[in-house]
This record gives sequence, C-alpha cells and structure tokens, in this order.
Amino acid sequence: MSDKSAPAIELRDVHLSLGRAAARVHILKGVSLSLAAGEATGLVGPSGSGKSTLLMTMAGLERPDSGLVKVAGQDLGQLGEDGLAVFRGRQIGIVFQSFHLVPTMTARENVALPLELAGADDAFARAEAELRNVGLGDRMDHYPAQLSGGEQQRVAIARAVAPDPAILVADEPTGNLDESTGRSIVDLIFALRRERGATLVLVTHDLSLAAACDRTVHLRAGRIEVDADLAVA
Ligand SMILES: Nc1ncnc2c1ncn2[C@@H]1O[C@H](COP(=O)(O)OP(=O)(O)OP(=O)(O)O)[C@@H](O)[C@H]1O
Ligand SMILES: [Mg+2]
Repeated sequence: MSDKSAPAIELRDVHLSLGRAAARVHILKGVSLSLAAGEATGLVGPSGSGKSTLLMTMAGLERPDSGLVKVAGQDLGQLGEDGLAVFRGRQIGIVFQSFHLVPTMTARENVALPLELAGADDAFARAEAELRNVGLGDRMDHYPAQLSGGEQQRVAIARAVAPDPAILVADEPTGNLDESTGRSIVDLIFALRRERGATLVLVTHDLSLAAACDRTVHLRAGRIEVDADLAVA
C-alpha cells in the first residue's frame, strides 16, 4: 500500500548503461531525485543527456545497473519481469513522441487494450468514455492511419490515463506536432493530470512548457545539474 506522504517517485544513486561491448554507454551516472505525489516535473537537458533513458527507468522499462528506483511505494528492483509488467500496467501511463499506437487496432481497441490486460470487464465502455473525454467521441472506429497526428496523440493519452495510473510520463509528447496542436495536447495532459491527481513527468525541449510544471529538473551528461533541492542525500 502506498503511503500518501511518501514520494511518488524516488531514485537513489541510479546508474544505467546500455549497449554492448564498444557501443556500451554509461548513460545515467548517479541520479538521485524525489518527486512528490501529484507534482508535475519538467525534465529538460541537451540531446543525449539521458532524459528518455531516465524516464524509461522511472517507468520500469529499463532496469538500472545499480541504485534504487521506487515508484508509488514499490521498489521496482524487487519485482520480476511479470510483476513489473503488471505494476506498469496499473500504475504507470506512458506517452511517446511518436504515439506508438497499435496500427491494426481502432482507437477504441487501442484504449481498451491496457484495461483488458488489467482484467477490466467493462474495457470497451471505459475506452469509449476516455475517448469522449479527449474529444474523440466521433473517431472510435478509426485506425491510427486514418487519424491526424494530434488525434493519434489524443488516443495515446486516453490509453495512458485509462487505467488511472498513479504516474504519467510523457517523452516529448508534442515533438511530432505543429505548435497549436502541440499546445492543445499539452493542455489536455495538464487537464487530465489535474482531474486524476496523477504525478506527471514530462520530457520537453520547450522551456516554457517546462516552466509550466511545478518543478524543472535539468539533466546534463547523465547527471542532475540544478534543482539541488530535488536531489536526496
Ligand atoms: N540502447 C542503447 N545503446 C547504447 N547507447 C544508447 C542506447 N540508448 C541510448 N543510448 C545513448 O545514451 C545517451 C542518452 O540517450 P537518451 O535517449 O536517453 O537521450 P535524450 O536526453 O533523451 O536525448 P534526446 O533529447 O535527443 O531525445 C545517448 O548518447 C544515446 O546515444
Ligand atoms: Mg529522448
């Protein structure tokens, strides 16, 4: 059970390397931070600094070489692959720059998928409600290729929030969209986060967007640069 006063996300001295042999890169070099429940954090930094890797580590999609990753009170290192998959499905919603919808599934089926995996018996009804909530009530039966980029991202957001995750992570969710579509996607993410009280971590190159978050974390070469107040000893 998660303790309300405990941080929603806690990382302690996380190191992570990816790739093999000569291509092996030490990406995260001792990252420690603590994010309070319900807080929105903007994660910024130069290209290659490790933002996506850090986000995937928080989301339990990458395992660190060493260090602690605790999400919603759960030490992810204590979970096996199956346990981690179940935990992710229930607690973590992920939105990517390139949408990552299943191309052979309609909007309704894409949003219902995580609900079905979580064992919901009303997955389709809930998926429809989520799609209406993101303004796509009239696009339920469209396939991703029949939707605009902004619409695809709305479907992806509906899918991410449908299981009511404690944590919502988004990796440059507006990176493939024009400015005004991107703005409406950001408004939607912030509105849903307020509505659900989820903890949000948003990777962005847009400093004004980062500034709209409660906190900004700067990453440089795999280390947290400023925001010393976020680092835990
Ligand atoms: N699977 C991998 N194998 C080897 N190196 C990797 C792998 N994934 C990422 N890297 C390297 O790790 C570094 C950090 O990558 P990451 O994608 O986390 O950066 P980023 O901050 O998200 O960059 P961007 O702003 O361009 O998206 C990069 O130098 C990248 O080349
Ligand atoms: Mg990235």
